[in-house]
Amino acid sequence: MSRTVSLSSPDGLTVTLRLPPADGSIGMPQFIAFGLSEASDAPFIERASRINGMDDAVASAVLLPTGGMGFFGWPAICGHRSGRDFVLGFCNWTAEESEGRLALAATDTVARMSLRLTLSAHKGGVVSSQVCLTNDGDVPYQLDRCMAGSFPTLAEDATVESFTGMWGREFQTRREKLGTGIWLQENRRGRTSHDRFPMLFVESANQRFGVALGFSGNHQIVIDRCDDGRRLVHMGELFEPGEMLLDPGESYLSPLAYAGADSAAFHSFVRQELITWPGDVMTPRPVTLNTWEGNYFDHKVASLKDQASKAAELGIERFVLDDGWFARRDDDTTSLGDWDIDTTKYPDGLAPLVDHVTSLGMEFGLWFEPEMVNPTSRLFETHPEWVLQVEGRPLRLSRHQLVLDLTRSEVADYLFAKIDSLLSSHDISYIKWDMNRDLTHVGGRDGKAATARQMRALYGLMDRIRRAHPKVEIESCASGGGRVDYGVLKYTHRVWTSDCTDALERLEIQHGASKFFPPELLGAHVSASPNHQTGRQLSLSFRSLVAMAYHFGVELNPLNMTLPEQDELAQFIALHKRLRKLLHALGTQFRLDPVDGRYVWGAASAERIAVIVAQGSQMVGEQPAPLRLPTHITQFGGRWRIADRTPQQPDFIRISEGQSDLLAGKIDFSLVSLTSAGLPLPMLRPESALLIELEPTTGDPDHG
Ligand code: GLA
Repeated sequence: MSRTVSLSSPDGLTVTLRLPPADGSIGMPQFIAFGLSEASDAPFIERASRINGMDDAVASAVLLPTGGMGFFGWPAICGHRSGRDFVLGFCNWTAEESEGRLALAATDTVARMSLRLTLSAHKGGVVSSQVCLTNDGDVPYQLDRCMAGSFPTLAEDATVESFTGMWGREFQTRREKLGTGIWLQENRRGRTSHDRFPMLFVESANQRFGVALGFSGNHQIVIDRCDDGRRLVHMGELFEPGEMLLDPGESYLSPLAYAGADSAAFHSFVRQELITWPGDVMTPRPVTLNTWEGNYFDHKVASLKDQASKAAELGIERFVLDDGWFARRDDDTTSLGDWDIDTTKYPDGLAPLVDHVTSLGMEFGLWFEPEMVNPTSRLFETHPEWVLQVEGRPLRLSRHQLVLDLTRSEVADYLFAKIDSLLSSHDISYIKWDMNRDLTHVGGRDGKAATARQMRALYGLMDRIRRAHPKVEIESCASGGGRVDYGVLKYTHRVWTSDCTDALERLEIQHGASKFFPPELLGAHVSASPNHQTGRQLSLSFRSLVAMAYHFGVELNPLNMTLPEQDELAQFIALHKRLRKLLHALGTQFRLDPVDGRYVWGAASAERIAVIVAQGSQMVGEQPAPLRLPTHITQFGGRWRIADRTPQQPDFIRISEGQSDLLAGKIDFSLVSLTSAGLPLPMLRPESALLIELEPTTGDPDHG
């Protein structure tokens, strides 16, 4: 008899599986249903299949197919013992169902391997899958591939929405129709990457769900079409050749593969479960000044102190000292790895600046790039053997730097000691943890690939620092958004979304990133105009409103601003502080797909709705489409009006009398009508934005 088991996440996804019969039959758990709870009632009826005349039809839509024995699709787990045991077939399946957890186990008595598969329900309605594979034999097993999980689509035409890009242009949304062949994404950069994010959505007429791999290293995502027309979305780690050799008794533990119904589910999971805050709760996200674009390597204590004083005056709450503070670091060619304070720039050490910042009531943050070393550094001179390298191959520089082999305990201990000593001797409550190059040759001390071990060693180092300094928050940065994923977010609290601070570029970058990450974790800074990456000139109002809903910050030298500019920025900071509870934690978020260059996003509660409308390129339409809000926002019901707008004089191309009255709050409307009729807002000029705040009309008996 086969057993049917299931895992349900409250208000979220359900996975129902049928285990192979316990009569010694081999196979993997077959998907009966996957999706929101209605799917779990689907009847299970064995299908007849005509696969090239095989007498037994082998189930095709299974969790982690192993390949061979009549399965002709893409195997999600495979390996061998010097060429033998190349077919895996698991039997004797057992299942333990407990609250929010389904633990499955099986053995392969021929290839002598055993498998534990854990499906878990997470807050927000997200489910995850993780695999542990053990070598029960007495000779090593070469594991070539072991995906963390598979999730099935319905048998209908489907589209994949994935995120690509490059440095400074991350999270560009790409939609492709899935065909009969395999859809494949492989990341070999050794960090999450700017171009192949381990997360995507799959959409068909009757289903939409997202998947995300909780891992920052090399990965593989494969969407394979099964014989029955369904598709399997597999995701897991990508191994280098020979990298994952399991000695007798040794196990491989995969990262977690997550699936969720929509962005709201993912946001809620990240907020409620993935991130661990100092003190267990997220404090209001401090408005940040990052010194990079305002100073680069030119650190002058007197000026930095003045910038800090000005920042405090503007309402800034956290001061982050970026690259350039350690000895001989006058450009990006030297000194990574040394981590000794530059006594030329800081004759009395960092303490005077740290104390100055904290005495102003601001937090102090410090930049590190722990995994890296410049060949021009004392560390490299002393320990050239500490870098990842492949014997006989040239060392390949990127941004003049090499990568330290964190799998060597002496390297991890050295880095821990350096960071620990700085954190212990100063009032530092924030680390910007940067990582500015791809890994090109990850050879460990034994001459073998060490990509997987390096990744785990990095998490280990982050974890050690978190434990030693539980009050410190960490930002994950990798040349901007090169390490933004659910693996690193277990140890960090914010990501630097992109090195591009141009607000126009940020519209699309932030739109894509917000599909998987709540806005309060995405760093968004107001920087100088002309912008340092693109040379574009943008108004302070546009720059501020584009950053408004995110983890708001400033990345310029405030002393270079005119007094009116300082005043304007201070007003935007005050506005952000007034709205951040709504925009971050309290509100229900929404985000519309951009139409005709117009981006719309915001958050709503029963008391207030904040809507940001930003016009990127010039509109093609004669009139903008009325602003329609999604039903999960209009369900607040009742009659509302526009209570406030920023800026007071938005950059409209033309405005009618009715539109003026609407913006002045003289016209109220039923919120439900915004789903269909919408608000006829005037057309904004390109590269301008508007924030409107809606509030219920007081005294309305219908207001729900
Ligand atoms: C990377 C980061 C920037 C900045 C520089 C410093 O490019 O993404 O924000 O910290 O390094 O070198």
